[in-house]
Amino acid sequence: MDEFHREGDVLHCEDVPLADIANSAGTPAYVYSHAALYRSYRELDEAFDGLDHMVCFAAKANGNLAVLRALASFGAGVDIVSGGELYRAMRAGFDPKKVVFAGVGKTEAELMAGLGERILLFNVESAAELEHLERMANVYGKRARVALRINPDVEPETHEHISTGHGGSKFGVAVEEALALAERIKGYRCVDLIGVHQHIGSQITKPEPYKESVEKSAALVDELRSRGFDIQYFNIGGGLGIKYKDEETFSPKELVDAIRPTLEATKTKIICEMGRYIAGGAGVLLTSVIYRKKSGGKSFLVADAGMNDLLRPSLYDAHHEVEAVGPNGSLESADLVGPVCESGDYLARDRELPDAREGDVLAVMNAGAYGFSMASNYNSRLKPAEVMVRGERWSVVREREHYSDLVRGELVPAFL
Ligand code: LLP
Repeated sequence: MDEFHREGDVLHCEDVPLADIANSAGTPAYVYSHAALYRSYRELDEAFDGLDHMVCFAAKANGNLAVLRALASFGAGVDIVSGGELYRAMRAGFDPKKVVFAGVGKTEAELMAGLGERILLFNVESAAELEHLERMANVYGKRARVALRINPDVEPETHEHISTGHGGSKFGVAVEEALALAERIKGYRCVDLIGVHQHIGSQITKPEPYKESVEKSAALVDELRSRGFDIQYFNIGGGLGIKYKDEETFSPKELVDAIRPTLEATKTKIICEMGRYIAGGAGVLLTSVIYRKKSGGKSFLVADAGMNDLLRPSLYDAHHEVEAVGPNGSLESADLVGPVCESGDYLARDRELPDAREGDVLAVMNAGAYGFSMASNYNSRLKPAEVMVRGERWSVVREREHYSDLVRGELVPAFL
C-alpha cells in the first residue's frame, strides 16, 4: 500500500488525514511516513539477500533525528559528509561501526571526530586528504580505516548538478591514482586500506551505468588484493532514482540482479548508501494557498512554502506532483509559487494543479529527500515544521522555527 493514499476524499499519511496535521501543526510542514521509510529500507536490504551487505542511509537526504533514529532502529548504517552529520548520526543512535564518511573536503576537525568515534570507513578522495588522515591518526594514536573513492568515469545520464562519476568531476580519484595512493599507504603507519568506494551520481534511472562502474571498481578490488591489501568492503554508492513524474525507474532488486555476479566475485562486504530511494517517497511538504492571483494571462497559486522550504524545483527544475489534501476537484493551469522575492521561486510551473481556494492545503509529493535538508532562511523565513507519522500516531519531530531562531548567534558590536 502506498503510505500516502486517499481514503474517501481525504489524503492520508498512513492512518492520519494530512488535513489534521496541517490544522494542528500549521503549514508549511514536512510530513514523513515511518512505514514508507521501513518499506524502502527493507526493499533495499532484501535486494542484497545472499550477499554480505550493509544498507546505509545518506544522511544528507534527510538529517532529521527522528528519521535517522528510525533508520538506525531498522539496522541501517549511515553515510555522512560532515562533522555535523556525524553529530546527528551519533545523537540518533547509529553504531559508529556502521558509519561511512564521504566528502572531498573533510577538515582536520572532522577527520578527528571520525577517528574519535572509531567509524567504520573514511571514503578518501585525494592524496592530500590521505596525508592529513595519516598525520591525525598518528598524533592521536588511532587507526584510520580507509576506502578509496574512485571516479570510474561513467556517464550516469542524470542532471549535471547531481552527476559525480564522470572524469573531470571533483569527486574521487581515477583508477591509476587510486593505485598510486595505495602504494603510498604502504608507507603509512596508521592507515588501513580495506575498501573501495564509488558513487556515480543521483536520481539514476538505468542500471547500465552502475554495471559499468561496478565492474571497473571490482577490477580495482582485485588489483589491490594482488598488491597485498586486505580489501574487505566495496561501497557501490547511492543514486537509485525514484519516480517523480513519469520516469522509467528500476527497482533495488533489478539493480542488484544486474551486478550480483560481479559483487559476489569480489568476496567483500557490499555497502550501498542510498538517500533519495529511502526517504524521497516517504515525505510530503504541506503548504497552504495564501492567495490566488492572475498576471500576464497566467494563474498563480501563491503558497506559504517557497524555494527556501523546497529548493529542488528552483535549482534543478525538478518536478514534484501536487495534490489537494482535501477532495480532488477540478484542475486548472497554474503555477504554484512561494512568497520569496525571486522569480525562480516556484514549486510547480505551467502545470495542471488542483483548483485550490485560499486557505486550501496542498501536498507537494516525494519531498522526503533533499527537502528540509536543503531548506534555508532566505528572506528571513522560518524553516518549516517536520512531522513523523507512524500508524495512527504522529508527532512534531522538529518545531517550526521562531523569529528568535533567525538571529541566534548574531551580535551587534559595541562600536555601532
Ligand atoms: N553517497 C554520496 C557520496 C553522495 O554524494 C550522495 C548524494 C549519496 C550517497 C546519496 O545519493 P542518493 O541515493 O540520494 O541519490 N540535492 C540533489 C541530490 C544531491 C545528491 C548528492 N549526493 C537533489 O535534490 O536531487
